[in-house]
Amino acid sequence: MENGEHNNQTADGNGNGIIVIKNLTKKFGDNIVLDNISLSIEKGKTTVVIGPSGCGKTVLIKNFIVLLRPSSGEIYFKNKRIDNLPERELNTIRIHYGFLFQGGALFDSLSVAENIMFPIRQHYNTTDWGHVEDVIKTKLAMVGLDGFQNYYPANLSGGQKKRVALARAIALNPEVILYDEPTTGLDPIRADIINELVLKLQRELGATTVVVTHDMTSAYKIADRIIMLHNGKIIADGDAEHIRNHPHPVVQQFITGQVSEDDLAVLRASGSVAKAQFLPRDFKE
Ligand SMILES: Nc1ncnc2c1ncn2[C@@H]1O[C@H](COP(=O)(O)OP(=O)(O)O)[C@@H](O)[C@H]1O
Ligand SMILES: [Mg+2]
Repeated sequence: MENGEHNNQTADGNGNGIIVIKNLTKKFGDNIVLDNISLSIEKGKTTVVIGPSGCGKTVLIKNFIVLLRPSSGEIYFKNKRIDNLPERELNTIRIHYGFLFQGGALFDSLSVAENIMFPIRQHYNTTDWGHVEDVIKTKLAMVGLDGFQNYYPANLSGGQKKRVALARAIALNPEVILYDEPTTGLDPIRADIINELVLKLQRELGATTVVVTHDMTSAYKIADRIIMLHNGKIIADGDAEHIRNHPHPVVQQFITGQVSEDDLAVLRASGSVAKAQFLPRDFKE
């Protein structure tokens, strides 16, 4: 790989990754978002994917669960190739995943309990409502919201909504949890509550965790491994220390929150942007 970055893959196959990506390219028309990426996600670890807005982080994790299909390349879950499976069979794969997508939308017309029940009803034909109630209670307790069963999303704060969405994401005891920008839009204290929850759930459920973020405070706090995407490639891959000391100027610019000279030139040419007026972290989706 470029820049000597490791990717945990053995020469002969999938290594010990629970999710393995081989030569993944994803294009939309002429826009090559992911360019021949290979990656192995280690079971039980927390992997954080960083990079500026629009670099393909969401597209990457959607490919993990084949919500988007690769333009070319292969996706494996526990050594089973899944990118070519029909939608019906994918549901039996996705049951092993919990995901918290950007926006983390709860159903506004459903109570907290009904929101958490949703994936259970979707996947199982259960009539054991006592058991379902226990599951809801346990999951809400894990995110610190037991007692909120009968609230509606409209009566919850932004941070509480994220935590309910998290309780819903773990309703089926997933082996893998995917978080897309879980701290975006939260103030630092609420963001840190989410960081703590990510760590706690990873410990308590032993789930393999993948977090997409452009929040470096969060990345350093929760990651066993940080991967940075740039121009469709993985340009950095390693632990927090490795990333902090990474020689690539794009990595340094990103983690220290500086706009590159190229970006500034474009911005200055297009109008009235003064030096250091805003930082990459100010860009919100
Ligand atoms: N469904 C889609 N159709 C066309 N282009 C898309 C689609 N989804 C994402 N893209 C493009 O892929 C690129 C990466 O998007 P995304 O993964 O959402 O970025 P990030 O999550 O890193 O902010 C962007 O240029 C975006 O416009
Ligand atoms: Mg995104």
